[in-house]
Parts: sequence; structure tokens; C-alpha cells
Amino acid sequence: MKVLIVYAHPNESSFNHAMLEQISFGLQEEGHDVQVKDLYAENFDPVLRASDLEQLQKGNTPESIVVEQESLRWAEGLVFIYPLWWFGRPAILKGWFDKVLTNGFAFQYGDTGLRGMLQHRRALALITAGGTEEFFQQNDAEHLVHRPMTDGTLAFCGIEDVHHRIYYDIAGMGDKGRQNVLEEVAGLGRHFNE
Ligand SMILES: Cc1cc2nc3c(=O)[nH]c(=O)nc-3n(C[C@H](O)[C@H](O)[C@H](O)COP(=O)(O)O)c2cc1C
Repeated sequence: MKVLIVYAHPNESSFNHAMLEQISFGLQEEGHDVQVKDLYAENFDPVLRASDLEQLQKGNTPESIVVEQESLRWAEGLVFIYPLWWFGRPAILKGWFDKVLTNGFAFQYGDTGLRGMLQHRRALALITAGGTEEFFQQNDAEHLVHRPMTDGTLAFCGIEDVHHRIYYDIAGMGDKGRQNVLEEVAGLGRHFNE
């Protein structure tokens, strides 16, 4: 499968970056064709500006957005890797969605209501959190973490096969725990096999 990895962490020595390396490796081992979109490295501007909106409302897609949409068109599978920041996606990733998932490209409203237009066969969100799993369970917070992404964005735009993994307590899990997670992440390349 052609798999686009969208990665949103500013620090190359982060655990998220180690996850990026592992899943890229795992996907390639399984014979998948991988492209990485590293939003910080590309210095992606996440702000949807008045001028962008004006163009979109006139039916013109700004060139900077077309380029991003081409990456999505290329892919059959999607992976998103990001840390949980304020129970949500880092602003750079949220802004990528604001700009790229335009009406008419990613979804459309017609006589029968909403129609998601993305045709990716599978999507996977890998999310790291500072809090413990117990904290999230006690506060009934897990759904806050993944649903805006899995349901509110990816499924909304028509992707039927959407999964997520949340890796809790990254700082507290210790070297062995982190190693186990990285091994699991490398194995997720298989998730994109037919
Ligand atoms: C701006 C910011 C906001 C954060 N918000 C949350 C949060 O809402 N919930 C949580 O569990 N951890 C939160 N954290 C902790 C990060 O999720 C955690 O440090 C990260 O997932 C660890 O991965 P890394 O080492 O690759 O950065 C936040 C960290 C930062 C810097």
C-alpha cells in the first residue's frame, strides 16, 4: 500500500520521532511505499487565513493547499503520529486539517446529506500522552483524545477503517516500557497489509 505518514512533533530527539522511525521501518519491511510529511520540518503554516478562505469560497484552491492535497491523493493508507497537547492535536496538525480537508475535496453536502470523499483504505492515529491510563479511565477521558481525530475528522471525511492507539505515561513508563512500545509500533507495518 502507499502510506502517507503525517508527523507532528517539533523535536527530533522525542519519543514521537522514535515512533516515526519505527513505523517507517516496519512499513517498508512489509513492502509498503512510504512518504513522510514532517509538518515542523517543512515549516508548515497552519493558519487558515482570510485570503485562503476567500479563495476557497470562490472555488479556487490556493497552490499551497493543492500541494498538500496531492500527498493525500497519492496515499492509500494514512498514519498520524503526534503527542497529546491539551487533550487534542498539536496546532500544526489541526491547522493542516483546517487547510487541507476542504469542502469538495474531503467531503461534500448533497441531496442525501454529507458525503465523505476521502478514499483511503485504512488510517491509524498513534498518540502519546503524558498522563497515566488510570487518570484517563477515572476521568472518562479517552474518547476526548481520539474521537475528534478518528470520528470527527477521518470517518467524517469517508474513511471507514480508522484505528487509534494511545500510549500513556511516556515519561513514567521507563526504558523497558518505551522499548516495548517501539517494538509494537514497528510491528504496526503489518496493519497495512491487505
Ligand atoms: C503543550 C503541551 C500540552 C500537553 N497536554 C497534555 C494533555 O492534555 N494530556 C496529557 O496526558 N499530556 C499532555 N502533555 C504531555 C505530552 O503529551 C507528552 O509529554 C508527550 O506525549 C510525550 O511524548 P514526547 O516525549 O515524544 O514529546 C502536554 C505536553 C505539552 C508540551
